[in-house]
Amino acid sequence: MRIIESIQEMRFWSDAERREGRRIVLVPTMGALHEGHLSLVRDGRKRGERLVVSLFVNPAQFAPQEDFAAYPRDFERDQVLLEKEKVDVLFHPSVSEIYPEGYQSYVEVEKLSPLLCGEFRPGHFRGVATVVAKLFNIVRPHAAIFGAKDYQQLQLIRRTVRDLNFDVEVVGHPTVRDQDGLALSSRNVYLSREERAAALALHRSLKRAESLVLRGERESKRIIDAMRAEIEKEPLARIEYVKVCHPETLEQVARVEGEALLALAVWVGKARLIDNTILKA
Ligand code: PAJ
Repeated sequence: MRIIESIQEMRFWSDAERREGRRIVLVPTMGALHEGHLSLVRDGRKRGERLVVSLFVNPAQFAPQEDFAAYPRDFERDQVLLEKEKVDVLFHPSVSEIYPEGYQSYVEVEKLSPLLCGEFRPGHFRGVATVVAKLFNIVRPHAAIFGAKDYQQLQLIRRTVRDLNFDVEVVGHPTVRDQDGLALSSRNVYLSREERAAALALHRSLKRAESLVLRGERESKRIIDAMRAEIEKEPLARIEYVKVCHPETLEQVARVEGEALLALAVWVGKARLIDNTILKA
């Protein structure tokens, strides 16, 4: 596995591979890799001849009071994990390589960004859309893989690719969970044992909603109330939002007709956890 830190070298490598007619797949990450990331990497391995994983903790997507400095980092461990998955290139640029002095251009996705997590994390999706656009221009992949755990992010990137005519196939990958249902996340390392047990309320509440819909419930409000009641049984959990939305526009819907996105964000200790499912009426 080759480790590339400079934009110029990354471009040079990609251009050479493209000239040989090889299909390049990119899996963007912020490191602190877990089985969720590795599942995307394995998917990527099957989808092209060359596999690039980027590892960059992107300051532009963290608000000033957020956990940029504390975000878990373990480059050596990540490197070993990616070697095992037969990754061709680990792209690991520095912050100054991506945002040099004088940097001032950003990608705004006007309607999707302020919804759901965007309401509580102003500027977050501007940072995500910007860094992903930059990664696409630097790595020039034919396809890129993103997890459905970050559903809003996945939709936002699909939108950016369409709006800005990026020639990249965006592939969504299902959420990977621990056996007890907790969605894997780099931020789970912030959880104590008691908090981790409390965090199971997210998945439990999603299951509760799915079973209500199966039994014929269609009213978003009743579904949300039942979920809130489930989560509020956990004194360590604090709900940020629970919403039923249109799966593409992400705007709230009053009733579940066809498919709807059920998304939630809950604080447990100092971890902000998100999860979602697609409800099918
Ligand atoms: P990060 O949180 O490191 O996640 C990298 C990729 O792994 C994202 O596409 C995310 O959706 C996916 N992922 C994380 N946990 C997952 C799980 N349990 N199941 C399935 N996929 C999972 O998301 C980011 O980084 C950044 O915002 C990034 C896109 C790299 C831009 O900086």
